[in-house]
Amino acid sequence: MRYCSSDKLTAGMILAKPLYTDKNKLLLGAGNKLTDTFILRVRNLNLSYICIAEPGTERITIDDPVDDSVLVTLKQQLRDIFDEVLIVLRSKRRSCKTIDGLVKKVSEDRYVAPIDKTIGSIRYLVEDVHLKSLSHWDALLNFSKCVGWREHGVDVALISILLAYQYQFKFEQLIHLGLGALLHDLGKAYMPEIAAKRRSDLNAEEIELYRKHPMLGVSLLEYHSKGHYVAKECLLQHHEKLNGKGFPKGLTGEHLPPVSKRKYAANEIYHYAEIVSVADAYVNLVTGAWYKRPMTPDAALSRIIHAMSDTLNRPVSRMLAKIILPFPTGAPVRITHCAMIEYVGFYGVVSVPNRHAPHKADLVLYADSQGKNIRPESINLKGDSSAELELDVTNDEQD
Ligand SMILES: [Fe+2]
Repeated sequence: MRYCSSDKLTAGMILAKPLYTDKNKLLLGAGNKLTDTFILRVRNLNLSYICIAEPGTERITIDDPVDDSVLVTLKQQLRDIFDEVLIVLRSKRRSCKTIDGLVKKVSEDRYVAPIDKTIGSIRYLVEDVHLKSLSHWDALLNFSKCVGWREHGVDVALISILLAYQYQFKFEQLIHLGLGALLHDLGKAYMPEIAAKRRSDLNAEEIELYRKHPMLGVSLLEYHSKGHYVAKECLLQHHEKLNGKGFPKGLTGEHLPPVSKRKYAANEIYHYAEIVSVADAYVNLVTGAWYKRPMTPDAALSRIIHAMSDTLNRPVSRMLAKIILPFPTGAPVRITHCAMIEYVGFYGVVSVPNRHAPHKADLVLYADSQGKNIRPESINLKGDSSAELELDVTNDEQD
């Protein structure tokens, strides 16, 4: 089997894994042929990738690192929270003129967003991370399979937990971080029209409102009986930048590895929030939330490490590049360079990824440079220093 991005699906392809709706109902079972109607439904569900069967790739299996039902539950819980918050805030807004007034009103009324159910689900997610070694996370490509703005926190939580796990955060710390990452955009619940837009499409008035979402979000947790200090700081600080040019407070940071035993100055970004910011940037780039089109994982990592090196914590960004495999098992690729020039331009599927040199993977080739199907052929690029691959998806780096 292999991944296929939803915009490259064609009628007649065979589904290799069952697909479920966002309500966890079976949409289509494995082994079924895709029809035009079904492909439309996949696109309407905002699925970035699905798994299809490809002759010659029968031995390639793609593991789901996280139980899909946990992710589906979390997404539903997040949507429910956002829905309730929107209704409550709209009713409160009638008695106040500005967002700052609304923040004050939420605080006066001691209103708390209904987040308690999500804590149990985050616990499951952290248990999954604990149970599996990093090699099980090759399918990170597949994480951003739901790109709706209300569900975006689920991907951010998963990546944040994986990042913090590399820094030996303890179980309970991972849960606190996961909760903060899941809910980091809670304040956007009040501004669905702005939240659904790409950042590059916002006008000046919308940007002003958008910049209020961290404050509004944190006010929705202020009086939670459990305190949730870590989560609150993640909500408040996830748009702070290490060079001091972020918002709402213009805090700064020193590009230190995120460890717990550190004293923080009043103007410094909390290490939990630095992790959420990196995960958030990655998910926004690969899902197209910031720019016109989604970036490939490779391009997104490059953007984070180079162009965003002043604003995001560098050690965390480098850690992200270590744990995200640009060409995981089952990834559809095109050979752009290799020593065997007759294979340049050929299309294939990664059968054995290479964690240390991702472009030097084992492949099963299935189409020539014209896209014409060939008899499947296995090749190993491990010893080929010139080998370079690109993901065979339509998403490119675009500003
Ligand atoms: Fe945000």
